[in-house]
Amino acid sequence: MQTDQEPTLDLTSLIAKVKDLPPLPTVVMKAMEMTLDPEASVRNLQLLISQDQALSAKILRIVNSAMYALRREVSTVSHAVAVLGLDTVKSVIMAASVERVFQASKDLSTKLMSDHSWGTALAARAIARRIRYENTEEALVCGLMHDIGKPVLLQNLRDRYSVIISEVYKGNSSFHQMELLAFGFSHAHVGALLARKWNFPPQLSEAVGYHHNPLSAPSFKQLACIINLSNLLMISMGIGFEKDKSVDLEKQPSAEFLKLDASALSALVGELQVAIQATAALRA
Ligand SMILES: [Fe+2]
Ligand SMILES: [Fe+2]
Repeated sequence: MQTDQEPTLDLTSLIAKVKDLPPLPTVVMKAMEMTLDPEASVRNLQLLISQDQALSAKILRIVNSAMYALRREVSTVSHAVAVLGLDTVKSVIMAASVERVFQASKDLSTKLMSDHSWGTALAARAIARRIRYENTEEALVCGLMHDIGKPVLLQNLRDRYSVIISEVYKGNSSFHQMELLAFGFSHAHVGALLARKWNFPPQLSEAVGYHHNPLSAPSFKQLACIINLSNLLMISMGIGFEKDKSVDLEKQPSAEFLKLDASALSALVGELQVAIQATAALRA
């Protein structure tokens, strides 16, 4: 949803209103850095996973699951990483990271929120591949983080935000529009602030900040459009908190900007249904 009354993205004045910005867990930060770094080696990933008990257990559980049908049980992280491959391991880490960041706000329907974020991440990577965007993993991370402002708003403005959540759940409005009305800024702006605080690259902060009005993004319109369209894809596919099957993807300014026509969009929907299904086991 877009609105003509977008406030300018004044992050400095937001800091006073949103006092309680959560820190990024170290393991998540390192995983994100590695995901964005094409030079990241298997060895570095193994080290990172070994330092995190929950992550190690998860990786071992996946590699020993029926999905891989191995004859012998895998008991070490290095063996598991070798069997799963770099891309799968990165996906597992990223999926686990989102669950962790959203865990802070259990009552913001954590499951729906992380389903939406994970789906948006997969969509962003699929779109990035299709339009040959230079860094597909960057799009994935950005999709994953795009709504990270929501749990922060809930923590800071709990009573007023709870009202917004129930209105959105009833289908009366969107988060973005209700937040703008109630606070004068939205989760997109808070997310941009957080991305900056966490020292994410500027394109990530900007794409998060403008994911609901991507054509206003001053420097990184393409990435903002990828995230906007990915978010709308999830809403139209009914994945997450906001569902609206009537969204006309083809008419979205972001789809036009990215030159994705009706047939490209329906191919994307098909591809995403498969990808979401295939990664469900990685997130369990
Ligand atoms: Fe959003
Ligand atoms: Fe979203």
